[in-house]
Amino acid sequence: MAIRKVGVVGCGLMGSGIAQVCAAAGFATVVREVSPDVVEKGLKGIEKNLARLVEKGTLTEAQKGEIRGRLKGTTALEDFKDCDVVIEAITEQLPAKRELFAKLDSICGPAAIFASNTSSLTITEISTATKRPERFVGLHFFNPVPVMKLVEVVRTIATEPAVYDEMVDFGAKLGKTPVRAHDSTGFIVNRLLVPYLLDSIRALEEGVGSIEDIDNSMKLGCGHPMGPLTLLDFVGLDTTYYIANIMFEEFREKRFASPPLLKRMVLAGWNGRKAGRGFYDYSDPAKPKAMKF
Ligand code: 3HC
Repeated sequence: MAIRKVGVVGCGLMGSGIAQVCAAAGFATVVREVSPDVVEKGLKGIEKNLARLVEKGTLTEAQKGEIRGRLKGTTALEDFKDCDVVIEAITEQLPAKRELFAKLDSICGPAAIFASNTSSLTITEISTATKRPERFVGLHFFNPVPVMKLVEVVRTIATEPAVYDEMVDFGAKLGKTPVRAHDSTGFIVNRLLVPYLLDSIRALEEGVGSIEDIDNSMKLGCGHPMGPLTLLDFVGLDTTYYIANIMFEEFREKRFASPPLLKRMVLAGWNGRKAGRGFYDYSDPAKPKAMKF
């Protein structure tokens, strides 16, 4: 099947990044949000990203125009009816995702392939809201989507092998390196990343080192682009807490258990960079200052 048109549901941080890479890879892309002002906000963010690439000389003004021309914003799911692939990047709530896919199932053609960008929910459970679990995969992208080179392509026990191979190939066409993963909670990356992030909070709680020293250790000692506490702020403490709880629920292993400090920070609304405060204070976003607890 030739993939020509891609639908992306959700134009937040992940959805807008996914829509951008789809359009940049040459696919006609329609991206849906719940209201016109949210569509507008998402598309403005993409335009800003593309303008930065022109400034840096990575894109020409003409290429920027072509990419923007392939992108259409909408609030109507009916605009997905002729999509070959639909990628969902809405809120991490199972009922919302199941409801969405049940609607898409009746709107889209029978050959369309569905994908969820969920980071922690079970693809099998989302796919059974449709009559096409054999044409259903996970496509897990990483933040910031236009920059991070990986996409996890997740298959369930019901995914048809030819559909799966096609989605691996699609991931490569988006300019990403696709890795194959089974539908095991957290897939590959979060299975390894989440215990590491949680352990960095436990190290802080136990007084092993300060916020800056824990971050510098992994940045300078191991060559990570960000220390774990900075990365937690970047991903969002609420998001990490949510993923950790789902993984703990699934595996019942201590390594996935949320440390008390994480829970308290989420309860206080200190969710990281987007909240202006997490392990660092972002009053001056260019110069984050480590918090004192
Ligand atoms: N959107 C688009 N481009 C961006 C961007 C954004 N939000 N943020 C940075 N960039 C681009 C910059 O323009 C720059 O491009 P250039 O090299 O062509 O000039 C490049 O990325 C590097 O940016 P900076 O020089 O400003 O800053 P850094 O060198 O510190 O890089 C970073 C920023 C790419 C975010 C880097 O710090 C990094 O890789 N951090 C780790 C990110 C990570 O681990 N992400 C995965 C999170 S886990 C996840 O998403 C899964 C979920 O399930 C939890």
